[in-house]
Amino acid sequence: MLLLLTWHILITSVQATPPPPPPPPSPNLTDILHNPEASPNTLLIDTFLHQDVNDLGHWHGPLEGLTVHHSPGFVRFFPSDPDHNYHTQLSASSCFDLRPYQPTHFLHIVFSGTTKFSIFLNQNNPACNFTRNPFPQTSDVVEAARYARGNDIYIPLAHFQIDQTRAVSVSFGGFYSLEPLTLYRIEIVPSIPVGFPVPHRMNNGRLVLTCSRPGSFAFGIDDGQPRFAQEVMKILEEERVLVTFFVVGLGLRDRDTNFSNVYREMIKRGHQIALHSDTHRKMEGLASTADIDREIVENIKSFRQILGIETHYFRPPFGTLGARTRQRLANFITDPQVITWSVDIEDWLWADSKTPEKQREAFFRDVMHGGNLAVMHFLSPTTVGYFREVIQFVKGQNKSIMRIDQCLGDPRSPPLKYPVH
Ligand SMILES: *[C@@H]1O[C@H](CO)[C@@H](O)[C@H](O)[C@H]1NC(C)=O
Ligand SMILES: *[C@@H]1O[C@H](CO)[C@@H](O)[C@H](O)[C@H]1NC(C)=O
Ligand SMILES: *[C@@H]1O[C@H](CO)[C@@H](O)[C@H](O)[C@H]1NC(C)=O
Ligand SMILES: *[C@@H]1O[C@H](CO)[C@@H](O)[C@H](O)[C@H]1NC(C)=O
Ligand SMILES: [Zn+2]
Repeated sequence: MLLLLTWHILITSVQATPPPPPPPPSPNLTDILHNPEASPNTLLIDTFLHQDVNDLGHWHGPLEGLTVHHSPGFVRFFPSDPDHNYHTQLSASSCFDLRPYQPTHFLHIVFSGTTKFSIFLNQNNPACNFTRNPFPQTSDVVEAARYARGNDIYIPLAHFQIDQTRAVSVSFGGFYSLEPLTLYRIEIVPSIPVGFPVPHRMNNGRLVLTCSRPGSFAFGIDDGQPRFAQEVMKILEEERVLVTFFVVGLGLRDRDTNFSNVYREMIKRGHQIALHSDTHRKMEGLASTADIDREIVENIKSFRQILGIETHYFRPPFGTLGARTRQRLANFITDPQVITWSVDIEDWLWADSKTPEKQREAFFRDVMHGGNLAVMHFLSPTTVGYFREVIQFVKGQNKSIMRIDQCLGDPRSPPLKYPVH
């Protein structure tokens, strides 16, 4: 099946090309490094003097397999996937209060190389504790290319709409070019050079990893195998729970899947149906905005034509996100709700392995760590086989299972179908 194939190919694809030789750093960047403007209102975050810690003494480093080359004074990235990212932490693992720098200050980055990436400001969870789920709780993101001029990037801190009392890290990701990126300096400064252009903030919706309604829990179920659809429906009916399905346009249009009938019936039964792109690619990695737009517009069009619905809710394929995907969503959808998760059953990792029971463990672990918004698929018989058990586990935690729009207290959501415990 096409969707399944795509999913596996992308998940197992590895970086094939060796990193190209690093470009020489521009001499003027070296000048900047040796002449830091020492203002009492400046917060120096990172000059990459050390391999594993930044100038604040907190961890910095790559995640998701990003290849980096570190030398004292800079770090160079060789990205080959939009999920590759690099974090530099504002606090060891708790919460950093940005209010002394708000709303006047700027995040300043000195760099060379590509501008085809995103810059994230990440917010910690209410416990300010990295062992609680989710960590981070949410983030806001801007497109580097819009803010870059020469070797500098200045972003008003006010452009990052997160809880400024709970900042935890600045990160770089959402790469859509193989061109390297070199970072020399990250700091918060009170002002910008005269004449340096600052673009307006682009709408980019809201990134949600958790239910906010007290005592609620939601299942966000993505791509499936048509042959398991009836069984999934039966389990949901018998367990008396409503969920949210994230549905790809291509699968909906494919008559062989029977998904048009399946999801029409799901809607009748009260489930929420939400966007999941048209062809299930890592949207942020697509070269052009037009390609991203096609993924959004065709998904919306299929929902309209086949299911007769509109929705504000979207989950990015693979959870891959960056500034462009969020901005393009906001261009086509009012107030987009970009949904990822805080409970991962890890079916992508264990479903077809020799230890499929690790799916239960992963699910239980994430719930016990405070997660309340799940991701799963119905691609494998093992995952479907654990579905009833994990629903009952959540009920046993005295949580009320509901659609994602309901667990977020969205006033546009329908009233609860089943009574709350
Ligand atoms: C470096 O900056 C100086 C001014 O400070 C300028 O005259 C010179 O052209 C710059 N060099 C490069 C390579 O950009
Ligand atoms: C973080 O949460 C864990 C439990 O998940 C707890 O054991 C630990 O003490 C907490 N850390 C802080 C600093 O509160
Ligand atoms: C297609 O889905 C509908 C709705 O769930 C169901 O009634 C029907 O039996 C399905 N058809 C096939 C061939 O599976
Ligand atoms: C759930 O609620 C019941 C009844 O109020 C209580 O006995 C039980 O301990 C609770 N379980 C959890 C996990 O909180
Ligand atoms: Zn998916």
